Amino acid sequence: MTRRGAAVTASRQGYATQRLAADEAGIARAALLLREGACVAFPTETVYGLGADATSPQAVAGIYAAKERPRFNPLIAHCPDVDTAMREGVFDTQATALAKAFWPGPLTLVVPRAAGGSACDLARAGLDSVALRVPAHPLAQKLLAAVGRPVAAPSANRSGRVSPTQAAHVAGDLDGRIAAILDGGPTQVGLESTIIACLDGTPRLLRPGGVPREAIEAALGRPLAGAAPGSDPHAPVAPGMLISHYAPRARMRLEARDIRPGEAALLFGGGTPQGVEHAAARLDLSPSGDLAEAAAQLFGYLRALDETGAAGIAVAPVPEFGLGEAINDRLRRAAADR
Ligand code: TXA
Ligand code: MG
Repeated sequence: MTRRGAAVTASRQGYATQRLAADEAGIARAALLLREGACVAFPTETVYGLGADATSPQAVAGIYAAKERPRFNPLIAHCPDVDTAMREGVFDTQATALAKAFWPGPLTLVVPRAAGGSACDLARAGLDSVALRVPAHPLAQKLLAAVGRPVAAPSANRSGRVSPTQAAHVAGDLDGRIAAILDGGPTQVGLESTIIACLDGTPRLLRPGGVPREAIEAALGRPLAGAAPGSDPHAPVAPGMLISHYAPRARMRLEARDIRPGEAALLFGGGTPQGVEHAAARLDLSPSGDLAEAAAQLFGYLRALDETGAAGIAVAPVPEFGLGEAINDRLRRAAADR
């Protein structure tokens, strides 16, 4: 059966997607569903993840079907604590230093899989490496502890859509296609985790994200090696980093110094570019120019401006340091031709 056919079948099964509250009963229900092999969306401090038991190929297949995601894309295995994560992979000195410095938190480490590692082949897309993350969100930690197995989770959006930072975004993309959504309110960081590969003695940045490059370089005491996805977008080192991954329907125009007729405006730092008074809609990522606030608002504001139906979204310049690197990475992907 084709991938599309499989996905349509899943949606015809017509899950009545349960909305679970952020309390003990909600967590227990979510954990039970995950242990039974169902897909459950849950909050992390970065974005909502679409979780499934990482040890079960059948469960992981459910993620691919719900998201209509290309099968070659490996998934992050989420663990409740550092010790559990370190049993799943082989950590060299640098990976250990990064785990100690940033876990729990918005960092994913790609390391060689451990001989006794439990993440199944499908979750790793057949690779000998495994992507591991210990999220800091208290609900995620309680859920993962209750499941007692690593939980594979990509962002809980349809493939090609921007990542969800609220339960309502998840429902908009996946209602009727997954068993449940654990609602923890809006996520704090708003951007996916930073991904660092520690595979060959040289830590490499595969994806900028919630931990700024500068903080990682400070912890390592050395600059991070490249593999910036922009260098060859069609041969990404993190296989999921296809350039047009984050895709609103509206045409995006970056570094905009003016707003053209018919465009909605995504602003930063309280600026008022020429023509903004005629914008179809306008939102400022952070009127005070705070990059953490801008990161937290980014995906929600992209969705909101896209939903106005404007033909285009003009995006004001965002500085390229700190979390700005990850914000600009996501904006460039959203703007890429597709
Ligand atoms: O913040 C996040 O990272 C969120 C939350 C839910 O944890 N997850 C997330 O997952 O963004 P996803 O699937 O959208 O992105 C995971 C990225 C993909 O680009 C994938 O290719 C890469 O991680 N990845 C996973 N395993 C890998 C591996 N063994 N080697 C290289 N890249 C890998
Ligand atoms: Mg994603």
